[in-house]
Amino acid sequence: MKTKMWKPDGVDSKILSEAAKVITGGGLLAFPTETVYGLGANGLDETAVCRIFEAKGRPQDNPLILHVPDAAWLTRYCEEVPSSAYLLARRFWPGPLTMILRRKACIPNRTTGGLDTVGMRCPAHPLTLALLRLADLPVAGPSANRSGRPSCTTAAHVLEDMGGRIEGILDGGPCEVGVESTILDLTCNPPRLLRPGGLPLEALREVLGEVVLDRAVTAQLKDGERPRAPGMKYRHYAPKAPVTVLTGSGANTADYIAAHMSGDSGIVCFDEYAYRFAGHIVHCLGSETDKREQARRVFDALRAFDHTCVREIWAQCPDAQGLGLAVANRLKKAAGFRVIAL
Ligand code: TXA
Ligand code: MG
Repeated sequence: MKTKMWKPDGVDSKILSEAAKVITGGGLLAFPTETVYGLGANGLDETAVCRIFEAKGRPQDNPLILHVPDAAWLTRYCEEVPSSAYLLARRFWPGPLTMILRRKACIPNRTTGGLDTVGMRCPAHPLTLALLRLADLPVAGPSANRSGRPSCTTAAHVLEDMGGRIEGILDGGPCEVGVESTILDLTCNPPRLLRPGGLPLEALREVLGEVVLDRAVTAQLKDGERPRAPGMKYRHYAPKAPVTVLTGSGANTADYIAAHMSGDSGIVCFDEYAYRFAGHIVHCLGSETDKREQARRVFDALRAFDHTCVREIWAQCPDAQGLGLAVANRLKKAAGFRVIAL
């Protein structure tokens, strides 16, 4: 299959209705969001949804989230929607927040991996919001990477992973946030953060008061321990070379890496410390103090090593404040939680 690349010049472009036809016709279309690129199909069409799992090489028990253009769509697909969901939607939608809610029976089991809940998300990207309105369907959309690989933040990355496997890619430029949406389970009390992402935990606590952090966010689950977000159990975001993450002050972690690296080590570090690793393949995350930039760059940095011959990767890691929680989570997952705390 030849994968078409579409780059509309605005929300009124004819290209968008062509792209929407891929979705309504049961095909696969990669679409841009503010977080990462998604791999979209009609979330109500089991056959189309099965093709998502095939194209990604994704385990069937890992549920898909649904993308909708606004909060008015919640009652079509969800039961017992709590008032907190509308409160959050008013504050943060369109934006990087996925809410787990009780689902209605009209959503196929294939989409939700057999769960009685569903993840709902309204992405903040003008092209995709227009696409969702044109398609007039809830669009099932996991991240557009092959399963286990770092998520895609550009159309070129999507082509690298999905070229030949899907009908088309809607190119909306590089993603602004760079890490996936924050996943919040609203079916329990207090609400539970299942995956840190583009919306900081602090912002949720400001609106909701207490929010608990699921254990799978910060630690490797034990064998047989079932995560609440099924996707959290899989090895993830991993470049081909093994990764070791260092936590602690930038100065200490840079010292540690400099003392332990070898000729074929690759380094992920903050701009301030790059000079310590001259002669190595280095991917900078941005300044130690700029977590937005770190979020934007973390997946590109991990992905970029695959085109090199590095045999191990050392990574500096931000603290857990703000977007740091999401950046640290992606790095630690890429490392299979091989973390050295200094
Ligand atoms: O930013 C994002 O959320 C991107 C863009 C494309 O919207 N999408 C994304 O989807 O990251 P995905 O499938 O790569 O990650 C969704 C995560 C998975 O770990 C999945 O297990 C979890 O959400 N999930 C989906 N439905 C769930 C449910 N009903 N209960 C708990 N976890 C769920
Ligand atoms: Mg994913």
